[in-house]
Amino acid sequence: MERSLIARRLMFSAAHFYRQESFSDEKNRETFGLCYTPHGHGHNYVIEAFIDGPIDPDTKLVVNLTDLDRVLREATEPLEHRHLNFDVPEFKNSSAGKIPTSENIALYLRDRIIKALPSLAPNLKLNRLRLYETDALWVEVIE
Ligand code: NI
Repeated sequence: MERSLIARRLMFSAAHFYRQESFSDEKNRETFGLCYTPHGHGHNYVIEAFIDGPIDPDTKLVVNLTDLDRVLREATEPLEHRHLNFDVPEFKNSSAGKIPTSENIALYLRDRIIKALPSLAPNLKLNRLRLYETDALWVEVIE
């Protein structure tokens, strides 16, 4: 069966700061700079999900866009308009595994999207996920 890669972009907004609780105040400031503040700051994040899969012989689609949007929206929904350090359990304390960096947020979203994909169609694969913090800064998780 023919396969194709479909990419979809979606935006969400959230606030965060970076703090490693095992670091001293000084080391946090040195390491994280402006990202180490007591109250944090916000971003309009953009995700790009690249979905790889067989083209359905009847619809000629890899995935129904409404369904894909629902999965992406459900993945980002717990983060939407939240302060990640206070509102989201996965980022709630400041231990090494939980700092809400773009790297960590991308991994969080990857896991949620991968979990939901089988409900859309068999054999769909998240090929890669990009998370843009700004136009000039993004991370990419490659499967
Ligand atoms: Ni930031």
